[in-house]
Amino acid sequence: MSNTAHDDEWVRKPASASVGTNCTAAQYDSMYAESLADPDRFWAAQADRLDWIKRPTKIAGWNYDPVDIRWFEDGKLNICHNAVDRHVAAGHGDRVALIFEPDSPDAEGRHITYAQLQTEVIRMANTLKKLGAKKGDRVTIYMPMIPEGVFAMLACARIGAIHSVIFGGFSPDAIAGRVEDCESDWIVTADQGLRGSKIVPLKANVDEALEKVSVKAVLVVRHTGGEIAMREGRDHWYHEVSQGVDDECPCEPMDAEDPLFILYTSGSTGSPKGVLHTTGGYAVWTETTFRYVFDYRPGEVFWCTADIGWVTGHSYIVYGPLQNGATALMFEGVPNYPDHDRFWAACEKHKVNIFYTAPTAIRALMREGEAHVAKHDLSSLRLIGSVGEPINPEAWRWYHEHVGAGAVPVIDTWWQTETGGVMITTLPGAHDMKPGSAGLPFFGICPQLVDNDGDVLEGAAAGNLCITRSWPGQARTVYGDHDRFIQTYFSTYAGKYFTGDGCRRDADGYYWITGRVDDVINVSGHRMGTAEVESALVLHAYVSEAAVVGYPHDIKGQGIYCYVTLKVGEEPSEELAGELRQWVRKEIGPIATPDHLHFTPALPKTRSGKIMRRILRKIAENDFGSLGDTSTLADPSVVETLIEGRQNR
Ligand code: WT7
Repeated sequence: MSNTAHDDEWVRKPASASVGTNCTAAQYDSMYAESLADPDRFWAAQADRLDWIKRPTKIAGWNYDPVDIRWFEDGKLNICHNAVDRHVAAGHGDRVALIFEPDSPDAEGRHITYAQLQTEVIRMANTLKKLGAKKGDRVTIYMPMIPEGVFAMLACARIGAIHSVIFGGFSPDAIAGRVEDCESDWIVTADQGLRGSKIVPLKANVDEALEKVSVKAVLVVRHTGGEIAMREGRDHWYHEVSQGVDDECPCEPMDAEDPLFILYTSGSTGSPKGVLHTTGGYAVWTETTFRYVFDYRPGEVFWCTADIGWVTGHSYIVYGPLQNGATALMFEGVPNYPDHDRFWAACEKHKVNIFYTAPTAIRALMREGEAHVAKHDLSSLRLIGSVGEPINPEAWRWYHEHVGAGAVPVIDTWWQTETGGVMITTLPGAHDMKPGSAGLPFFGICPQLVDNDGDVLEGAAAGNLCITRSWPGQARTVYGDHDRFIQTYFSTYAGKYFTGDGCRRDADGYYWITGRVDDVINVSGHRMGTAEVESALVLHAYVSEAAVVGYPHDIKGQGIYCYVTLKVGEEPSEELAGELRQWVRKEIGPIATPDHLHFTPALPKTRSGKIMRRILRKIAENDFGSLGDTSTLADPSVVETLIEGRQNR
């Protein structure tokens, strides 16, 4: 990946009046200043755009030591009401809320208005109630990218149930672990999903997961019509059980700090954590970031290509756009089916105004050549965005030039599952851009760079990225394990939220995210704990030890490189390598498939038995000329053997 980035390489924001209605440079400066000087006033004003059952009088209420985060604490609201009902009540029931673009361009899509969305959400909510779900219960959603997935999320929010969406690419074991962790008694799924014409056996995966854990009911949406098993008494077809449910369902009044959802995400240790977001702060944060970051105007079509199984889908397919009364496009398929122009064909077809995708998709499409883009009229595009991993300047420029016609602003938005919404970005009408830099902090955000000793770095510097003050969209805890929340995010640098990312700030105050500094890797914008892949590998009967590291990958950003030692008597082979790859796919899911499997008789360890990952990373990067100090290794000769057997040549 070519990564030449320059601090002084500016791309000027367009002078045209077609950007920046919601925030000019002067407005950003004064709003940012106010958000820090008087956060209560600032956030009370943003919160005022929402409908509250009881308007909050307490705004910021947080402490990082001990960790206790609250926003809008005495307010009451319902986010489903804010995303759906209030738009209908305001006379916008005919406005399109969701455009569904199916996997096959020949299949029929859907346009769902706000009024229809309300009807659908009520039907789903009353069906969940009929099956026994109620306020505070956890409902697992394991769905393809179809509107019913959104209905299910909003239905949970409506009745006060806590949704836990699991990405459709995760394995039965991953489903079982998550259902068990949050003690979820309900699963909403579909018979099957479709991605690039391939079938995803969702219900079959749920069945397999339910051999390990049990739930009260599984609600199954019929999508492909494929053959599936239904277990009497446990599994219910949505189209059957929803028959005759009431067509009214009041929105449950929620305290601002009542939980809204759990979303599992990988960290440097252990199994994925159930990051918990609550209602009021998340509602305000997603409404406000969507409005300003995407500079949204009524009537525009917004397309975020993420899956609802990730936080990007939660915040920028569902809650951000819908709370703003926007039209959000939802795409079931993949960028290269039936051909590499699918994104651009859909942009043209639906006259998309704002397009938001991941660098890995941009790089993959860039490799196929710009002819796929040039075939389509993309003149509706007004703003294009990137999220999920650092975007290399080469991909940024290609995106800007070919998709954005060299004129449309690009926003590179840095944030995390834990932050709920965008934290660092340029605002399209306010800021000039620098390819490869996310830009400047959003309102209320105080980034700080610290060195490994925790000393604060001022001015132009590179270090570990912390955030010193809370913001409304911040995760409140890890579900069922507040100590783990504190340990993971607030113990490395006391009194600060530590992001896990490395970052550089240039002389203009622009932030350049350099990637994770912990044992988390980012594969195609998906977060993966190396420890998770290692745990999966050592579950195999032949594996003795495993060490997993990331290495730079042209398309995926990072690839997964696994070092494996086998039990005595087992022999490495191509066949076993293939089997282990399949094994990891089965244990975690296809996104965790190892790119390289390197059998080695031993791993490099210190005398105290600690694996020296630094050396393993270097060898995986094929950069073994600079291994640094290897004298502390218990057996330095291991390194020679590893270099000889390196897989990434
Ligand atoms: C990690 C968070 C944000 C929603 C999708 C991913 C990396 C994210 C950027 C960006 C550089 C980025 C970070 C972060 N990341 N956006 N614009 N530039 N890096 O959410 O799965 O929670 O992953 O993704 O490393 O810590 P996530």
